[in-house]
Amino acid sequence: MAAHPLHLRHAGAADDGKGNAGTIVFLHGFPLAGSLWDAQMASLPDGWRGIAPDLRGFGRSPLGAAELPDGGAYPGVADPHEAVLTMDAMAADVARLVDEEVGGPVVICGLSMGGYVAFALWRQRPDLVRGLVLADTRAAADDPEGLETRRRMAETARTGGVEPIARAMVPKLLVPATMEGRPDVVEKVGAMIRGTSPRTIVAAVAGMAARPDSTPDLATIHVPTLVVVGTEDAITPVDGARAMAAALDAPVAEVPGAGHLTPVENPGAVNRALAEFLAP
Ligand code: MLT
Repeated sequence: MAAHPLHLRHAGAADDGKGNAGTIVFLHGFPLAGSLWDAQMASLPDGWRGIAPDLRGFGRSPLGAAELPDGGAYPGVADPHEAVLTMDAMAADVARLVDEEVGGPVVICGLSMGGYVAFALWRQRPDLVRGLVLADTRAAADDPEGLETRRRMAETARTGGVEPIARAMVPKLLVPATMEGRPDVVEKVGAMIRGTSPRTIVAAVAGMAARPDSTPDLATIHVPTLVVVGTEDAITPVDGARAMAAALDAPVAEVPGAGHLTPVENPGAVNRALAEFLAP
């Protein structure tokens, strides 16, 4: 029935016929999939419906006709013949999904790249956003060092495929205790990365490199917002999350025992923070 191109995971009130307090749409990070949010989808607060799409090109959603390169704003990330998957394109997909599946404003919960998409959606369609959860993400655009890392990752994906990306990323995303003691989580995260095509990796890395600075948007966000961060997040560290929360005048849930992937490393703490945030 739905015309949007995203593979969806559904859970909650709309499926089991209970009252509908609202819908929360979970946006995963890079290069992951909607199953990042399995533990949240399994424990939604009463009356809430959850939708966790695989964003375009990730999980079971096709990359399709991603946007063409913009003439090389960041040369060397995507080559001229390669697709670029912008945050705006992904936000437009999410807007279509919300229009078609919900037909009214939702809470958007985005982790890292999912947060970049949430900012883009806020710029495009603030009417669809009644609340925001910004998890392990940042408002700032990439700095020159970050752009260089993007170039290197795109080249690795082109020449070596996804395996070296998975091997390098998993230990950066997860804390050492998870790496050593929770093979199920290591396996789940590795499988999500290995399920991503090199073409999507290049396209999304180029899209992230081209994303604008969302810092000026923070002052425009007037809906209830929660910031979530793993206390050991090495990619988007706690200090940055606190500063973003201060700019938003929003609370921060600091999640112990977690690095960059709070929803899988400490799902109980994330679920409690969400339940408190979504409580009437
Ligand atoms: C993510 O988890 O989505 C990535 O760390 C985002 C990024 O590379 O900037």
